[in-house]
Amino acid sequence: MCGIVGYIGHRPAAELLLNGLKRLEYRGYDSAGIAVVGNGRLQVYKRKGKVNELAAALRERLPEGTLGVGHTRWATHGAPNDVNAHPHVSSNGDFALVHNGIIENYAALRKRLQQKGYVFRSETDTEALVHLIDDVRRATGLPLPEAVRQALTQVVGTYGLAIVSATDPDLLIAARKGSPLILGIGEGEYFLASDAAPIVEHTRQVVYLNDGEVVVVRRDGYEVRTIDNVLLEKEVHELEWDLEQIEKGGYPHFMLKEIMEQPEALENCLRGRLDLPHNTVKLGGLIDVMDRVQAADRIIICACGTSWHAGLVGEYLIEEFARIPVEVEYASEFRYRNPVLRANDVVIAISQSGETADTLAAVREAKRQGVLTLGICNVVGSTIARETDAGVYLHVGPEIGVASTKAFTAQVTVLTLLALKLAEGRTLSEAEMAQALRALAEIPEKVRQVLALDEEIRRIAHVYRYASNFLYLGRGYNFPVALEGALKLKEISYIHAEGYPAAEMKHGPIALIDRFMPVVFIAMKDRTYDKVVSNIEEVVARQGSVIAITDEGNGELDALCEYVIRIPPAPDFLTPLLTVVPLQLLAYHIAVMRGCNVDQPRNLAKSVTVE
Ligand code: F6R
Repeated sequence: MCGIVGYIGHRPAAELLLNGLKRLEYRGYDSAGIAVVGNGRLQVYKRKGKVNELAAALRERLPEGTLGVGHTRWATHGAPNDVNAHPHVSSNGDFALVHNGIIENYAALRKRLQQKGYVFRSETDTEALVHLIDDVRRATGLPLPEAVRQALTQVVGTYGLAIVSATDPDLLIAARKGSPLILGIGEGEYFLASDAAPIVEHTRQVVYLNDGEVVVVRRDGYEVRTIDNVLLEKEVHELEWDLEQIEKGGYPHFMLKEIMEQPEALENCLRGRLDLPHNTVKLGGLIDVMDRVQAADRIIICACGTSWHAGLVGEYLIEEFARIPVEVEYASEFRYRNPVLRANDVVIAISQSGETADTLAAVREAKRQGVLTLGICNVVGSTIARETDAGVYLHVGPEIGVASTKAFTAQVTVLTLLALKLAEGRTLSEAEMAQALRALAEIPEKVRQVLALDEEIRRIAHVYRYASNFLYLGRGYNFPVALEGALKLKEISYIHAEGYPAAEMKHGPIALIDRFMPVVFIAMKDRTYDKVVSNIEEVVARQGSVIAITDEGNGELDALCEYVIRIPPAPDFLTPLLTVVPLQLLAYHIAVMRGCNVDQPRNLAKSVTVE
């Protein structure tokens, strides 16, 4: 949430910062700003709205200088407006700061600083941080980097921050606690960013900052210290992403690109992990802990949003194949409700970004209680990936559309691999394993066939584009897919949508059904099919308008349903990987037809790094 960029080097900073902010805009997009140091001056430009609006306003008069910071905001404290936009500047105009996170003790700091005469111009928590640093510096006479470190010891909350100063044109300072920051290392130049997207076009060499670390960057080098001033030796990592992956590649939206690239994404996710000749699954990241996971008394999956839906599919998979009890928790609830964990429990955190604050806190709570933690993340080097004891990466490349699509199918794929691995030699015979693995290997091609239905789904979207409500129903493995279909629609089209287990309909939601209520049923020919058909009958009897997703060749639903989307059949446990795809496309097309900003839906941000 919120994007931070920084640059120090030999090139004009302003354009680099604006381009970097465009790449980071999926992290927050209600206002944007930059501060550039040049000719001994701090030049700050910021405004409400998208990065493009800021860039257009600056087109004719880009500030000069080779040092600067920038920010794209997702408002926490204070409305999105020009004043609350970052950077925030110290009262004597000496330094500018951009911040991601929440300063929890800002009210107390603000009061104390106001008593000392500081005047607050914005409603943000960030401004308290600016004045605090200024106050420490005045009181102690310390140079800015030390003053920043001292000030941060007084801060409660989370931050990723970057600072530049008019009085030192060779200094970029950044610090991290709870909000990711990466330093990119170029030739005589350095790039700072909340994630790799703005860095990858310049360099692949990066240093990941950890919580409690401050980096002081100059044109000829950098130094990382803890807040307590201990000098650290940091490892330099190589980024995996390439430029092509973070561009739209001819698609009108990242979301559509990411939906359409799912066949290749899943092939990448499966690569090297399915050993068909030997009927075995290989999960390199779990080798050292697999015995402990197999011996677990209970697996607890913690996640948020779409990742939580993937976790629900994981529960069905692991319980069915490995016969280990699984609980799926909203990470935000788990972390605060004093959960009971036992020595033989295993906690699995699922997070595309690997930075979601609540999921990270759940991992830390599990570790505090001494439990083995595993991470299923997409972003390599992300905090959850680094803090968990072991894990599996999705390997589907960057997901930039705010609505998660390819990450969901990859998370379910990894959970399928995990469930089968846990079952190996225990609950599945060799023949059953061979059959399951072969079916899994066929999934990318089947997803390709589902995607070929795009035009048909677009036509259905056209019919329902003005609906005000939607219901999504499914059973078994496809109940979580119903939740996911509803979430996709509501987050990008702003249509109210709910997902339910189809059988629950009779316990309440059925009251909503009339001829204005489109109901999407996932009705694959699995063990729950007959029951789902009965539920369809119940909806049709009340004049609800049904769109069904079922198996190729199944004509039984044609008389009942308004529209039937037929997809390739697969074993029950693999159907979520296919049934979710038409729901992603339906949501996408409806949102586009309603004129919504699909990649940047209102009020949302890609990576929720605040609680
Ligand atoms: C929905 C969506 C969110 C995320 C959630 C968790 O399309 O993108 O619900 O799934 O914020 O994010 P990660 O997986 O990064 O922890």
